[in-house]
Amino acid sequence: MNNSEIVDRVVEFVKEYMADKEAGHNWWHIERVWKNAKYIFNKEQRGDIFLIELAALLHDIGDDKIDPETDGPELVGAFLSELKVGNRQISDIKEIMAKISFRDNMGQSYSRTIELDIVQDADRLDAIGAIGIARAFAYGGSRGNEIYNPDRPYKNYLSKEEYQVSDSSTINHFYEKLLLLKDKINTDTGKQLAEERHMYMEEFLKRFYGEWEIKG
Ligand code: ADP
Ligand code: NI
Repeated sequence: MNNSEIVDRVVEFVKEYMADKEAGHNWWHIERVWKNAKYIFNKEQRGDIFLIELAALLHDIGDDKIDPETDGPELVGAFLSELKVGNRQISDIKEIMAKISFRDNMGQSYSRTIELDIVQDADRLDAIGAIGIARAFAYGGSRGNEIYNPDRPYKNYLSKEEYQVSDSSTINHFYEKLLLLKDKINTDTGKQLAEERHMYMEEFLKRFYGEWEIKG
């Protein structure tokens, strides 16, 4: 099997895996991250595109939030072995999967590769801008969280545990995560895209508060 046939098989596998997941984390999220990653690679002209594509496609398999029972890297490793992907490449992909998450890397520093940089940017870009806003409200809604509550002060979460159990409003999520992402982008191409998307979120919040505070 050549690389492009492997990518096709991985697409099929991921589509099937994502079929029953919530709106913010479904196949379309994966497809957008895959496209973002290819876009960044084409601009940056760095990294191994085969690893970037596979890692982008597979990055959310076994994510604690959508599927805590599955050991993502193990499932992915077994599947890629069947496709005869090399052991070295499999371990590179598993490493990207382990390091990509915002939650899992809070307050930690670790060694990085350009492939991780690109796929992580691609994933983070999908959490900001118009799509990021839509995903946040979809996720908050699926958890039964409030849209906004002016009586609850903003909270910033320091630990992974606190972040995961957060039942704060979705507007609060902008302050605990979405507005922080712009400064966590790795590549220059990613930074350019993030800048625009960030400005759009700030404008959204301004309008949101303006409409909330309308005086009769
Ligand atoms: P990551 O995979 O980077 O760790 P998450 O799985 O935490 O990201 O989040 C996936 C999506 O769900 C993102 O778009 C994120 O903004 C959104 N999300 C996560 N937690 C919340 C929350 N408490 N309220 C609203 N949206 C959230
Ligand atoms: Ni993701």
